[in-house]
Formats: sequence, C-alpha cells, structure tokens
Amino acid sequence: MKGRVTVPAIRAMKSHQRIGMLTAYDYPSAKIADAAGADVLLVGDSLGMVVLGYPDTLSVTVEDILHHTRAVVRGAQRALVVADMPYLSYHVSIEESVRNAGRMIQAGAHAVKVEGGKASRIKTISAMLDAEIPVMGHIGLTPQSVNAFGGFKLQGKEADDARRLIDEALALEQAGCFSLVLECVPAELAAFITERLTIPTIGIGAGVKCDGQVLVYHDVLGLYDGHTPKFVRKYAHAAADLQNALTQFLGDVREGSFPNDAESFHGTSEEELKRLYGQPEESGAIVVEMPKAQ
Ligand code: KIV
Repeated sequence: MKGRVTVPAIRAMKSHQRIGMLTAYDYPSAKIADAAGADVLLVGDSLGMVVLGYPDTLSVTVEDILHHTRAVVRGAQRALVVADMPYLSYHVSIEESVRNAGRMIQAGAHAVKVEGGKASRIKTISAMLDAEIPVMGHIGLTPQSVNAFGGFKLQGKEADDARRLIDEALALEQAGCFSLVLECVPAELAAFITERLTIPTIGIGAGVKCDGQVLVYHDVLGLYDGHTPKFVRKYAHAAADLQNALTQFLGDVREGSFPNDAESFHGTSEEELKRLYGQPEESGAIVVEMPKAQ
C-alpha cells in the first residue's frame, strides 16, 4: 500500500491481507516500526509499564498519551497512528470522553482505541464516532480492568464469559468501530468472533485466526525485562545488546581509548595555545595565564 494507511484501508484489509500492528511510544520507535512496514502504530497505554516503569497501565494520563502521540506522529510516515485512551479519560462522562478523544486527534492521531464493550461504553464510543473520531475497540483482557479481573488473566474461557465477549464484539461493530483488538482470549473464541464480524480483529494472545496481530514494541525487541507473557515472540534481545554496547563504551572511556584521533577535531595550533597560555608545569598541571587586561 502506497501513501498513508487510512481507517477505511484497515477496514478493507479484512480477510484478504493480514494487518501488522505494533505499539510505538516515541520518535525513534515510530520511525523504526514504520520503516519496517507496520500498518498501524498504537501509542498504547502499555507505555506506563514499558517506558515509564509503573506496575500497570492505570497511572497513565491523557497528557502522557498526548506527549507520546505527538512524537510518534512525527516519526510515522505511512502507518495509521492510533492513540490509546488511558484509564479515567473516558469513564467519567460522555462529554469529557469526547473532548479527551478529540485532543488525541488534535495531537495528530488518526483514531483512538477504547477498552471494553459494555452498554455504557458503547454509548461513549457512539458519541466519539459522532464527533468524527474513528474508534478501535478492545475486549478480552483489557488491562485497565486488572483490578476488576483480579489479575492479568485469560478471558472468555467459560461459556458465559465467551458469550459476553461475542455480544460485546457484535455491539462494537454495530456501533461503528473500524477494528477490534482481542486480547488474551482462547484462539477458538477469537476465530469465532473473527468469522462473525465484518470489521477486522487484531489479536494479542488470541491465536492465529485473527485478521491481524499486535505486539508491544519492547516485547518484540526484547527491550523490557519485566514479565513476558506466553504469547510474546521475541525477535531480538535488544536490552542485552544495548547493555553490552554501553558497557564497552564505558570501558573505553575509563581506559582512555575513547575518543580516538579520528573521533576528535583538530585545527587549533598547539604553538599558539602555548604562546597564549604558557607551558604546562613539570607536575603536568596546565598553568593558565590569563591574558592581561588592556
Ligand atoms: O497498550 C497497549 O499496548 C495495548 C495493546 C497491546 C493492544 O493496548
């Protein structure tokens, strides 16, 4: 696909082209993921854990997401940029939710992502859509509900829970979401939902039958040393590689082999410096003679 990936383009990829989505949180990660060919870059509230060092996503604020969205937008030339609505940004009132979502669009995001699919959430999402804000849904293990769920647990295993998720998926499609993230649900349930929806599903820990897949940038690259869920495939061990590189740099600094001659600038005449400021004393200390005031 040439040019910017759009919301209708993502919707049209359903069933004939798998969607590749990654999170990104800043200019370099967006540039790298975009150049790698990501269709969608999500400024995920997972930034709370992998970038800001919180134990979960609940402390992330609207200002955090706005700040990181602006950086991602500057780095993404092709990918659709989706800003994640953080906890409490769409829970208090519909008016406040639409305003917060609109701020994400004004920061340069092309769409927002909202967790959950219960009836009150559908009303909020409908109001966002009414304000011309494209919405990506997200059901299953929605991390902002970690306390209500009692931990980061697989969702939809029991029949009642599976039925609830199917109903929510259909309601989100009906409301007008252009795609739906399915997180940490059995592969069979994700396949069932994917078959029944006309909008694409994007899985994370939801098996291979989804229309696309998303992983957290830091997980794919092995940049995060916290808990790594079973559904993550690491394609690099960047944290170890980076630490190794930095250890070498610090070793070079301490042994005096950095910078070398080629890494230094030349041009000031040593003779001239000696003429102006005198000779180093025998002790090795540089004696600086200040030029006399006229
Ligand atoms: O915040 C996030 O990173 C997410 C995804 C992984 C779907 O919501």
